[in-house]
Amino acid sequence: MFDLHGRRVWVAGHRGMVGSAVVRRLARERCSVLTVERSAVDLRRQSDVETWIAETRPDAIILAAAKVGGIHANDTHPAEFIYDNLVIETNIIHAAWRSGVGKLLFLGSSCIYPKFAPQPMTEDALLTGPLEPTNQWYAIAKIAGIKLCQAYRRQYGCDFISAMPTNLYGPGDNFSRTSSHVLPALIRKVHEAVEHGQETVEVWGTGRPRREFLHVDDLADALVFMLRHYSGEEHLNVGTGTDVSIAELAQTVADVIGYRGRFSFDASMPDGTPRKLMDVGRLAGLGWRARMDLRTGIAQTCDWYRTALNQGLVRAAAE
Ligand SMILES: NC(=O)c1ccc[n+]([C@@H]2O[C@H](COP(=O)([O-])OP(=O)(O)OC[C@H]3O[C@@H](n4cnc5c(N)ncnc54)[C@H](OP(=O)(O)O)[C@@H]3O)[C@@H](O)[C@H]2O)c1
Repeated sequence: MFDLHGRRVWVAGHRGMVGSAVVRRLARERCSVLTVERSAVDLRRQSDVETWIAETRPDAIILAAAKVGGIHANDTHPAEFIYDNLVIETNIIHAAWRSGVGKLLFLGSSCIYPKFAPQPMTEDALLTGPLEPTNQWYAIAKIAGIKLCQAYRRQYGCDFISAMPTNLYGPGDNFSRTSSHVLPALIRKVHEAVEHGQETVEVWGTGRPRREFLHVDDLADALVFMLRHYSGEEHLNVGTGTDVSIAELAQTVADVIGYRGRFSFDASMPDGTPRKLMDVGRLAGLGWRARMDLRTGIAQTCDWYRTALNQGLVRAAAE
C-alpha cells in the first residue's frame, strides 16, 4: 500500500478534464498537490521536466498530460499525436526514475486495443491484432507508455503503473463542434435544440453502436485507489463494465435536458465498431467499482455545461 498522507503528488496535465478531476479528488486526501502551467514547463522539453522534478521532488506523479483529440484531429495531425505523446511520457517517466519518484501512474486509453478485439476487452487483448488506423498514432504512443512503465519497473524496480480508461465525460469536457466526442456533442446539440425550439436533432450513424461511458470523477477515484493499492506490471482497465446504444444515450440526454423533439439518425455517416466495452474484472477484483450511474452523471455534466457556458468557460465554445 502506498500511503498518500503527507506526500507530494504532481498532477501533470492538471488543467485537462482528467487532471482537474484528479486535483478535485486529491483535495480529500492529506497530501500536497503540485501543479505547473504549460507556459512554465512545456512537457515536450526534457530539460524543463527534469528541472521541475528535481526542484519540486514529488513523491508520486499522476501522468494525465497528453495530446488528446477525436478521429478528425488524429487523422489530420498524426505527427503531433505521436510525437507529443511519446515525448511527454518519455520525459516524465525517465525524469521520475532519475529523481527517485516513489510512484507514477500513467494514463492510456481503450484505443490501445486492436480494432477487432473480442468484447468486452480484457487487458490481455493488447498487441493481439491491428489497431484502428485513424488513431494508430495516438495508440502506438500510449502502448509505448505502458511499455516504458514496465521496462523501468523491470530494470530499475520503479513502482510505475498504468491505467486504461474507457470513454470519459464530465466537467471540463470538450464541447467543440468540430472535435468533441459523442456525449458532449449530444449535450450541446440537444441544449441548442431546446434553446432554438428545433424539432429534430441530427445524430451521426445509425444509433445502434454500443459504447461505455465513465464519469471523470469516478475515474479520478479509481486512479487514487490504484495509486494506493496497486503495484504491478499489468495495465488495468477502468470503466463501468456496462454499455448503452447511441440511440439510448441520445434519449437519456433528451430526458435530462427536457427535449421533446425527435432524433434523426444519419446512416450515411460511419458507425465505427459495433460495440466497445472494457472488461473491468481485474480492477473490480482489487475492490474498486464505478459509482455514478449514467443518468446522474449526464445531469451533473449538463449543469456544469450551462454554468460554464454562462461564464464563457466552455472550451472551444465558439467553434
Ligand atoms: N477524454 C477521454 O475521453 C479519455 C478517455 C480515455 C483516456 N483518456 C486519457 O486521459 C488523459 C487526459 O485526457 P484529458 O481528456 O484530460 O485531456 P485534456 O483535457 O486535453 O488535457 C490534457 C492536458 O495535458 C496538458 N498538456 C498537453 N500537452 C502539454 C505540453 N506539451 N506541456 C504541458 N502540458 C501539456 C494540457 O495542458 P493545457 O491545458 O495547457 O493545454 C492539458 O492540461 C490522456 O492520457 C488521455 O489519453 C482520456
